[in-house]
Amino acid sequence: MPEDAVPGEMSFYAAMLGDAGRPLDDAGRPLGWLLEGMITAQVTTVLARLGVADELAGGPLTAGELAARVGAAPDPLSRLLAAAAVYRLVRKDDAGRYALTPSGDLLRTGAEGSARGVAVGFLGPPHWRSAGRLEEVVRSPDPVNPAGPGGIYEYYRKDPDEAAWFARAMGRVTGIMVEQLARAAFRPLASGRIVDVGGSRGTVLAYLLRALPAARGVLMDRAEALTEAPAYLAGEGIGERVEVVAGDFLREVPPGGDLYVLSQILHNWDDENARTIVRNCHRASRPGGALMVIDWVLPEGPEPSLAHVMDLIMMMVLGGRERTRARHEAMLRPEGYELVRDTPLAGVMPWRVLEFQHV
Ligand SMILES: C[S@@+](CC[C@H](N)C(=O)[O-])C[C@H]1O[C@@H](n2cnc3c(N)ncnc32)[C@H](O)[C@@H]1O
Repeated sequence: MPEDAVPGEMSFYAAMLGDAGRPLDDAGRPLGWLLEGMITAQVTTVLARLGVADELAGGPLTAGELAARVGAAPDPLSRLLAAAAVYRLVRKDDAGRYALTPSGDLLRTGAEGSARGVAVGFLGPPHWRSAGRLEEVVRSPDPVNPAGPGGIYEYYRKDPDEAAWFARAMGRVTGIMVEQLARAAFRPLASGRIVDVGGSRGTVLAYLLRALPAARGVLMDRAEALTEAPAYLAGEGIGERVEVVAGDFLREVPPGGDLYVLSQILHNWDDENARTIVRNCHRASRPGGALMVIDWVLPEGPEPSLAHVMDLIMMMVLGGRERTRARHEAMLRPEGYELVRDTPLAGVMPWRVLEFQHV
């Protein structure tokens, strides 16, 4: 795109709308760009899946050379790359070789702040299919879980490779959360035996155990979500202090915890299932135990929040929902938990740490 191009100049859908596709407000985002999301998301996620950026890290390559390396068909790949150049993920030289742009380089596995896990893990087949059924969900008078019973997690049970990509994506995003916890020098109100329920590879647990040297941890998740956890925990220097347990938190959670952690768990579920998970924590907990909920908490007021976008994603892919703080309190109180501290995290993501104690 020429340096002086206005936003939307190289947008297919903005072009199709003519003058009406131009930016309408200070945000400078033409309507056409919003319609283009399907194409830009697919171009990006497929480049990431193929590992194109990993191959281009060694220097420019033609589409034919790349095709052989990433296991793609030459003609379709050359067309994908040409479209990716429109979106400035790659650049083509006069000799027909492609090189990475700074945004394309972010799709490389080892890039600092790599986006590859997110680009693959959060835009995989279960997310994509569910998103295509949004109208049905919105029209239905009864709650619809478009991903089917069990949501994306049932899909991952049958496809461990996709499960591993999802866990990498979670690790990346929760890594940002943990940076914010560290910046705030956050310490939970309870310690001792800490059970990370649905903890994925254990990003939050690793933070807590590093912050609390005397604490020990239990990491619990579905088996397919835990494949990379032992290596990750060992790399964080806490492998010896963590017991890794596969299980189903809708049935039971590991017993004897002083602190149960539900990080980005309750938002995956409707109220009934969320209550079941909380009840299982309460039942398994040591007397007087604590529960720490971290989620994308909805604002009480009318202001737009990224929590509203996450809420929509939860509705589409899991039949879950985000909640206000008041709704969390109302849901947990009958299960025997009282809110004792609310810590909003700084940053764009509207995460809050809600800490509860047995009533
Ligand atoms: C949104 S991720 C959150 C992961 C982690 N707590 C974090 O904040 O990064 C939800 C996690 O719940 C796990 N999960 C889903 N259903 C489960 C079940 N029935 N039993 C145990 N874990 C489950 C998933 O495998 C996934 O790791």
